[in-house]
Amino acid sequence: MELATDLHNQALRTSVHEVGINGNYWYAVGWANQLKPGEVMPVTIWHQAIAVYRDAFGHLHALEDACPHKGVALHKGKVQGDLLACRYHGWEFNSEGQCVSIPYLPEGQKLPCAQVQAYPVQEKYHLIWVFPGDRALAETKALPDIPEFDDPDWLMVPSTACFQAHFSFCNENSVDLFHGFLHEHQQGWFDPVLTRLQETDATVIAEFQVSYKGHLAKFLGLSEHANQVTTRPVVVEYHYPHFSCKLQGMSSNYMMRLPVSATESRSFVFFFFKLRLPSWVLKPLKPALERLLRRLLILQFLAQDVEMVESEQLNHLKDPAWRRVEINPAVFAVQRLMVRQYLQFTEAQPVHSNAIASTSSTKSLAVNEQSPTAMGLASDVVRS
Ligand code: FES
Ligand SMILES: [Fe+2]
Repeated sequence: MELATDLHNQALRTSVHEVGINGNYWYAVGWANQLKPGEVMPVTIWHQAIAVYRDAFGHLHALEDACPHKGVALHKGKVQGDLLACRYHGWEFNSEGQCVSIPYLPEGQKLPCAQVQAYPVQEKYHLIWVFPGDRALAETKALPDIPEFDDPDWLMVPSTACFQAHFSFCNENSVDLFHGFLHEHQQGWFDPVLTRLQETDATVIAEFQVSYKGHLAKFLGLSEHANQVTTRPVVVEYHYPHFSCKLQGMSSNYMMRLPVSATESRSFVFFFFKLRLPSWVLKPLKPALERLLRRLLILQFLAQDVEMVESEQLNHLKDPAWRRVEINPAVFAVQRLMVRQYLQFTEAQPVHSNAIASTSSTKSLAVNEQSPTAMGLASDVVRS
C-alpha cells in the first residue's frame, strides 16, 4: 500500500487534536481491585467528574461528582450501606442520584428535590466501566471482546499508562506500526509494511507485515528462530474508542482508552503472550513471569510511547496550526473516525445539555469539519 502525504486533510489533522469524544460508549475508568467495598474513587471522562463507589454489598455505582447542595465533590464522601453521603452535611444519595436523606431535616419535613446525574457502571476484565453518554443506549453498546482473558494458554500482563496528551495523539501512536525504531531495545519489530486498510463508521482495521528476530522474540513467541528473521502479519483494530493489536495468535494487546481532558489521557492495557512452555510449567510460573515482563519490558515499552506522545502534545500546544507531515494512511483513517464519532455524538445531543462536548475548541471543530487478579497494579502506572 502506498504511503503518501494527504495535504487535503490538513484542516482535519490540525483540529483532530482538540476533538471531543462520542460519549455513547463504555469507557474503562480504573482497576476493579483498587475500589474495595465502602470506598469511593474520583474519575474523569472527558471533563466529566464522576464519583464511582462500591457499596457495602460490593455493588458499583457512579454519580456526578458534585453535591447539589453546595457543589462539594461527592467522592470526598462516605459510603453508608448502598448510599453515598456527602462529606459536608451528610446528605445521602442513592444509586439513581436522588437525595434520600438529610440527617438534620426535622422529622416529617419533605425532602427537597436534589438530584445528581447517575451513570451506568459495570465491572468486567478486572476493570470498572462507565457509560458517560445517553444512558438509554448503554445496554445497546458492548464492551470490547477479549477472548484471551479467560484462556489459560495465554500469559496476561495488565498495566496502565498515563499521558499528558490529548487522546488523538495516543490513538495515532496505536495505529502507527512504523515506529518499531523507538522500541529497538525492547523487542521492537522492524521492516513494517502496511498491507491492508479498512474503514467503517466505527472501526479502522489496519494490517501490517512486521519482522522479528532475537532470543527474547523467540521466547515471547514472536519469532520462529533467534538468529533468523520471522515476518508475520499484525492486525491493529480500532473499535472506537478502544484498540487491539494482534500478532497472528502469538501475542496481542488491548488498549482501553480513557480521554480525561484536552491534554490528559489514560490507557488500561492488557498484553497477552503465548509462551513456548508446556502448560504445567507455565501455570505455576505465571505470577512471576507477569511481574518480570511488566517490569523489564512492558513498562519501558509504554514509557517510550508516553514520551513521544507527550512531546507531540507540547509542540502542538506551542503552535496548533503547525503543519505536520504524515504519510501513514492508517493515521488518516483514525483521525477521520475520531472526528466522525464526535460529530455523530454532538449532532445527537441537545446543545444545552451536551456537557461532554462543551469546550470551545470542539465547538469550532463541529463548525469547521462538516465534511467529515486481584492485581497489584498501583505501582505499575507509567507516568510522565
Ligand atoms: S455540600 Fe453536600 S451535603 Fe452540603
Ligand atoms: Fe510504541
